[in-house]
Amino acid sequence: MFFVGIFCFFNVIILPMINFPRNFLWGAATSAYQVEGDNTNSDWWVWEKEKGLPQSGKACRHYELFREDFDLVKTLNHNCHRLSIEWSRIEPVEGKFSAPEIKHYQDVIAALKERGIEPLVTLHHFTNPAWFAKLGDWQNKDASIYFLRYVDKIVNALAKDVRYWVTINEPTVHVYYSYIFGTWPPGVKSASSAGRVMKNLLKGHVKAYRLIHKIYKSKGLNRPMVGFAHNMQDYVPCKNNLKNKLAVYIRNKFFNLDIIYSVLGKRALDFIGVNYYSRSLVELKKWGFKNLILDCCEGGHSALKKNSMGWDIYPQGLKHILLGLKVFKKPIIILENGICTEDDGLRWAFIRDHLKYMHEAISLGANVIGYVHWSLMDNFEWDKGFVPRFGLIEVDYVNYQRKIRESAKKFAEVCKTNSLSI
Ligand code: BGC
Repeated sequence: MFFVGIFCFFNVIILPMINFPRNFLWGAATSAYQVEGDNTNSDWWVWEKEKGLPQSGKACRHYELFREDFDLVKTLNHNCHRLSIEWSRIEPVEGKFSAPEIKHYQDVIAALKERGIEPLVTLHHFTNPAWFAKLGDWQNKDASIYFLRYVDKIVNALAKDVRYWVTINEPTVHVYYSYIFGTWPPGVKSASSAGRVMKNLLKGHVKAYRLIHKIYKSKGLNRPMVGFAHNMQDYVPCKNNLKNKLAVYIRNKFFNLDIIYSVLGKRALDFIGVNYYSRSLVELKKWGFKNLILDCCEGGHSALKKNSMGWDIYPQGLKHILLGLKVFKKPIIILENGICTEDDGLRWAFIRDHLKYMHEAISLGANVIGYVHWSLMDNFEWDKGFVPRFGLIEVDYVNYQRKIRESAKKFAEVCKTNSLSI
């Protein structure tokens, strides 16, 4: 299945190629709030205004331009595409579901299918309806019940055309920014709220998993593949001493693995969705519980290249993470991996190197079945606004024109040939 070699014909050297498994999923991701525009019923819409943050406004106008955008996806040879449904469009007022918005997402999925592109659909990507936020959002003890009502509606409407579902995007990141740091809505800084929300998000996932399977069964459809997107960092000790090594072990267990164990324990996971961006350089100032969990290197010891938000570029971390997931014996889909940068050469180097390490992990037995790049196009990067550029496609926010970047063309070759020259 995998082949690495150097060919030499008549003194012409062809670069070594690595091949990926058959039927590999190749694509890119977006999330509704970050690209659609005018999500006026969402808690983020209210939050941006209240806090005087960058405004999402029209975002990329993808709500209107999705067909044109999917034409570009097609020309880039992607065979899958990850998108999310905006709950606040489907249920703008508590208990009132919008038929035109449901129809909109049916059209979106149909547009992908017409182009031969497999949809990977996320049900919750950080944003909530404003009415749900008023009820206490995920802190409310009935949060998962509200979520399930929406899941029931939208999954019933889309089931026949969707096989892959991502219930919740990055529960740990959501909890961290919204309930520990307090920089995202609802701006809470409380360990007990954070704990409650994590519990409710996981409850939401497990219930959604069961409901989705039930719906497919009742409709006589093939078994769906249901998972969640888990943000994983590679924890690396700065100095290789006992303190740091212990902290690395604890953080990897606590932040990376435990959540997967817990969901698998409930038999509620068909694949592991990995979002990987960077490493975390661990350096303990002293012994202490908080230090073990939180301390990072502040001594400027990271000599690595960085993205435009200062995150280390560390492709070997992806291999390490993927190998660490072998123990779960589940298929893995990389649901996000990408770089914000103004340097498109660096973007391609980032993609190429991550794919190389992903391939090494596959060769060593990691069951990776797909790679989805973040992001298809430049978009609204939450509290950072439109400055970070994560897209394979450049977006001009004045006239909303799209321009395919060179890195996207190189990635398109990988998608087309299912191989990469290294
Ligand atoms: C999130 C995206 C975000 C990306 C880059 C991921 O954690 O799912 O919404 O844009 O990181 O920061």
